[in-house]
Amino acid sequence: MYTTWVLGFPSGNEQGSYLTIDLGGSNLRVCWITLNGRDPESSKHDINLAQHKYEIKDDMKTGEASELWKFIAVSLQKFIQDHDLNGKAQEPLRLGFTFSYPAIQDYIDQGVLQTWTKGFDIKNVEGKDVASQLREAMKRLELPVELIAVINDTTGAMIASAYNDPDTVIGAIFGTGCNAAYMDKISNIPKLSNNEQTQSLDPETPMAINCEYGAFDNSRTVLPVTKYDSTIDEDSPRPGEQAFEKLSAGLYLGEIYRLILLDLNSNKILLKNHNLKDNKKFSEPYCIDTALLSSLEDDTSSSLSESARALEEKFDIVLSEEELLLSQLIAHLIAIRGARLCACGIAAICRHQNITKGHVAADGSVANKHPRFKRRWARALGEILDWEENDWSKDEDDQNVGPIMLTSAEDGSGIGAAVIAAMTIERWEKGQRAGILGRNEK
Ligand code: GLC
Repeated sequence: MYTTWVLGFPSGNEQGSYLTIDLGGSNLRVCWITLNGRDPESSKHDINLAQHKYEIKDDMKTGEASELWKFIAVSLQKFIQDHDLNGKAQEPLRLGFTFSYPAIQDYIDQGVLQTWTKGFDIKNVEGKDVASQLREAMKRLELPVELIAVINDTTGAMIASAYNDPDTVIGAIFGTGCNAAYMDKISNIPKLSNNEQTQSLDPETPMAINCEYGAFDNSRTVLPVTKYDSTIDEDSPRPGEQAFEKLSAGLYLGEIYRLILLDLNSNKILLKNHNLKDNKKFSEPYCIDTALLSSLEDDTSSSLSESARALEEKFDIVLSEEELLLSQLIAHLIAIRGARLCACGIAAICRHQNITKGHVAADGSVANKHPRFKRRWARALGEILDWEENDWSKDEDDQNVGPIMLTSAEDGSGIGAAVIAAMTIERWEKGQRAGILGRNEK
């Protein structure tokens, strides 16, 4: 549970132009965003957004910190040049940085990485302040940029969504990783009980909490796991960490499926005349993505011929109809377990906060691209929270209709980061500086 120093939901009146960067899985996304305020006619927000994605090469994910920060600063430099931002907008350009890893934040413009997650393993960043590492790299290139806020993707999703939808109560990511953020009042946050900075604040002031519940049950005392889960953990760059995430997030679902098929094959239950271990393509760890699992689940072609073709094309595997049915069932089980666990995380927040209705603004590949995810998630949430059956199970369009609803989050790492930067600057200018390191001290 990490404090974020995002104090409350946006008013909706936030304005201005901001640079944002998002260090995601395979790309660095850079945006230039202008919040123009509400359009008086539609009362919707008028927002301009220009963006570019810069590919993060695989070797960078396990390389040196200096390479990472240099890559980010050079990409920013290129973006500023390509979009002709130098000298045109207010200087320095104000930057919101979405850094979606567990980081302790004593200030909103600082974040000490605790551990890399989601397969990243860059040396010399853990235990360090990512904001100052980025600032140094930007200084070296003399970029006219000031880092205003470091945010988590879940907080970004919550704030960007609340900017437009006042019913938003939680921001969640069900994607490569899984995690959520919610608001709590400062007096409820034990970590802040002796914090000097909060002395000037009303104890009722809300603050966004980044749960980092992907790390739930790292002690492995609560959740049942299979031998496949144990293999995934042991072979990961950080064994013992992100226990909950390794059972439920998109990065791992395909790999669980691959390990099960390998096991069934070595026990001669599947593909008796083929040794999957000798199959070069299939023996590559993490070669199966969530998209393949969801298309397998949703295959309505006769004799599952579409899945048969996909598996043959990708991995030179020819499964019989029975074997295809078995592998479809396995895909179902993995996805159902994942969706139900994702509901557990949200249910825990709802119970803790007595949330009985509202919108859970979710982003991420599993939430958006897996067609059955929402339905399964809602069913599990309804079971845990004891919803009346009629409240939530009568949908006809495969949409969830419970009192706590999954909605598609607005762009958290773009608009969310920009809105948080605007909120932070506004606080600073009003002299409300709790949790902001700020310009003078840096
Ligand atoms: C991982 C990260 C967390 C992030 C989540 C979703 O769990 O540790 O910070 O929010 O993935 O991207």
